[in-house]
Amino acid sequence: EKGGYASFMLKEIAEQPKAVADTLLGRIDASGRLTLDEVRIPDAVLREADKVVVIACGTAFHAGLIAKYAIEHWTRIPCEVELASEFRYRDPILNRRTLVIAISQSGETMDTLMALRHAREQGAKVLAVCNTNGSTIPRESDAVLYTHAGPEVAVASTKAFLTQLVACYLLALYLGQVRGTKWGDEIHAVVRDLARIGDEVERVLETMEPVRALARSLADRNTVLFLGRHVGYPVALEGALKLKELAYMHAEGFAAGELKHGPIALIEEGLPVVVVVPSPRGRSVLHDKIVSNIQEIRARGARTIVIAEEGDEAVVPYADHLVRIPATPTLLQPLVATVPLQVFACELATARGNEVDQPRNLAKSVTVE
Ligand code: F6R
Repeated sequence: EKGGYASFMLKEIAEQPKAVADTLLGRIDASGRLTLDEVRIPDAVLREADKVVVIACGTAFHAGLIAKYAIEHWTRIPCEVELASEFRYRDPILNRRTLVIAISQSGETMDTLMALRHAREQGAKVLAVCNTNGSTIPRESDAVLYTHAGPEVAVASTKAFLTQLVACYLLALYLGQVRGTKWGDEIHAVVRDLARIGDEVERVLETMEPVRALARSLADRNTVLFLGRHVGYPVALEGALKLKELAYMHAEGFAAGELKHGPIALIEEGLPVVVVVPSPRGRSVLHDKIVSNIQEIRARGARTIVIAEEGDEAVVPYADHLVRIPATPTLLQPLVATVPLQVFACELATARGNEVDQPRNLAKSVTVE
């Protein structure tokens, strides 16, 4: 069943280009318009929505954090993202104009299910992003956009995460299309970039050998930190979560702009720090800021592992290890930037003798609170 791979996780990492392409299939027409027929929520309701709230747990929550950047940029609707387990006990403010997006691979996560029930009781419309046909969360939602990752067996989520991102981008662009925001041209360009992104993920997978070697060389370490900005921040959180659950190491993700507000005190000689660098094109201010952050931590002894776009020369002098990813528009970068972090965690865990498909203490689907 593992199709020649040593683990389901490795197989599922390798399946990502196809999972991404399958999730796009049939949802973009020849003229570049989105046709999300499954979203049965009437356009009039989508046009009137004045707030989007994303609820999810774990890796799906990280997809939601990234979705916020896309939704707010392309639709100009305020978007909140909340852990389902916090949301439902917080007495959240919801009404008929609130669009709730519940993201779940399994469709059975109890906290997410309870949160969506709570939202519907308040009159909000709930749209599920889910990978499992006919599971409870889509059945109890007003509409569902299925991710087409295929069954995910390994406990740690990989291909489901990438397809959750794709589904969230599609939704954000669709909302933009329905509401006719001023980003019309940009939306067309992004749809074209999205259609190509599976190939870019494939290219990343082809260049992972140095990442594996690096991961093996760090097998005896205790801590790895991850830094990012903008959409790279949730990518850093996801990289840290993968390392915790698979390698049982202390791993933490930070927003790079927060370094000076505390985390920089953790930097000591030889500490591995993974930095996700935004594209130098477009939002170049962010790029320059993170290059300064890399200089700051390196001056304090950090061993920098830099994930940066091809052609980004500014990072070269400060990178102890440089991992190249294809140039993509900033908002789409998580689709390529997450892949090396998955490979890194999987290889490091294997080097530590851990069972990557079945990490200790974890279950694939958390159907209790
Ligand atoms: C991490 C992981 C978990 C799940 C979380 C939500 O690799 O797999 O954090 O993402 O338990 O599960 P779903 O998406 O099934 O609701």
